[in-house]
Amino acid sequence: MPESIVGTKQAAELLGVSVSTIYRMVDQGILQPSKTPGGQRRFPVKQLEEYRENSHDIVAPQNPYQKRFNAFSGEKEDASKIVNPTQENASDGDISPSFDDKPVDKRNTLNDLNGSQWLPETKSFFYQKGLGAKHPHAQIERQHPAPFSFQDISHLITFFTKHGMNVLDPFGGVGSTAKACEIEGRICTSIELQERWHKLAIERLEVEIGVGTSSKHTFILGDTRDELKKMQDCYFDFMVTSPPYWSILNKKADHKVKKERLANNLATNYSDHDDNDLANINKYEDFLHILVDDVFLECGRLLRPKKYMCLVVSDFRNKSEFISFHSDLIQHLNHKVTTDGYVITLQGVKVLLQNHKSLLPYGYPFAYVENIHHQYVLVFRKDGK
Ligand SMILES: C[S@@+](CC[C@H](N)C(=O)[O-])C[C@H]1O[C@@H](n2cnc3c(N)ncnc32)[C@H](O)[C@@H]1O
Repeated sequence: MPESIVGTKQAAELLGVSVSTIYRMVDQGILQPSKTPGGQRRFPVKQLEEYRENSHDIVAPQNPYQKRFNAFSGEKEDASKIVNPTQENASDGDISPSFDDKPVDKRNTLNDLNGSQWLPETKSFFYQKGLGAKHPHAQIERQHPAPFSFQDISHLITFFTKHGMNVLDPFGGVGSTAKACEIEGRICTSIELQERWHKLAIERLEVEIGVGTSSKHTFILGDTRDELKKMQDCYFDFMVTSPPYWSILNKKADHKVKKERLANNLATNYSDHDDNDLANINKYEDFLHILVDDVFLECGRLLRPKKYMCLVVSDFRNKSEFISFHSDLIQHLNHKVTTDGYVITLQGVKVLLQNHKSLLPYGYPFAYVENIHHQYVLVFRKDGK
């Protein structure tokens, strides 16, 4: 007897989840559909029923999105990348059903979350979540020396936008924001200076999500300072990005870089001699001014009033000096006025914990040299004139 199979929408109905969740499950290798010659996904009903059975007893702790997802977890992840699962699951004791279908408040114009989904997302920290280096869908992302995790960005996108809204990433890299947008049903505009990363970003969607998906988003190859100027005021509902952290990638390779990247023939910087690459600016102060005035304030102009921008950054060391990039950025950007006359104001600072990173004996046994195992998500809003 032929095996019974269904399409994505029916699979979602069968499991009682959204179509985006099905995409996420496929993306993580939890469900393995076949594809028709036209690229449509087909799911064996037996496989779906097995998941439904296995997920009966699972409750959703702290984060409804992540946990909904984990509810299905036979999730095969590289153990080194599973971010301290004990701590991650140690929430405030809020045990809610894994599929929370309470209605969204009619006054909520920000996102599609109901109250119990909204609240955990306001925590000032979260744990970084990645696919793990060996996952088939991590192979394009790995080429880039400093991608962020599309799963972490999905959190931000689902909190700061509604389905169908427009998202901007002015430093698009290999398209992690675009991938998160595609999975979450948002529309991304991604700007990247280097052709190599720009092409990989498009390829990433085509290969990891599906043929034709990249065409739903806009990938621009160019200097973000020029490209942003061409765009119309108040077009975007959200901006999320990770900028170059000045020139840290240009410093001499340490043990970790040698082992993890050079040994695998992977790039260690964005470009070698491109003067438009903000990572190649000599002086830190010049870099900060350009980043804030030419990029982030311009992004502010492109945002609709009351909408948010999230900057994912980390502090770093320059030789023996510790540079608190996140606080410098706040000092430079907070309360600045956009060219269309609005004020950019800081709304919060989330800490993104990277508890999976291996500790290195920097400074031992002479001095305190920090293992920087967290990033910051700086949350700004475009506020009234
Ligand atoms: C931290 S990475 C962003 C990675 C991205 N979030 C991802 O997950 O792939 C910063 C990116 O900014 C790009 N970049 C540097 N200067 C730029 C410029 N002037 N215009 C556009 N992109 C630029 C770099 O090539 C690099 O890919």
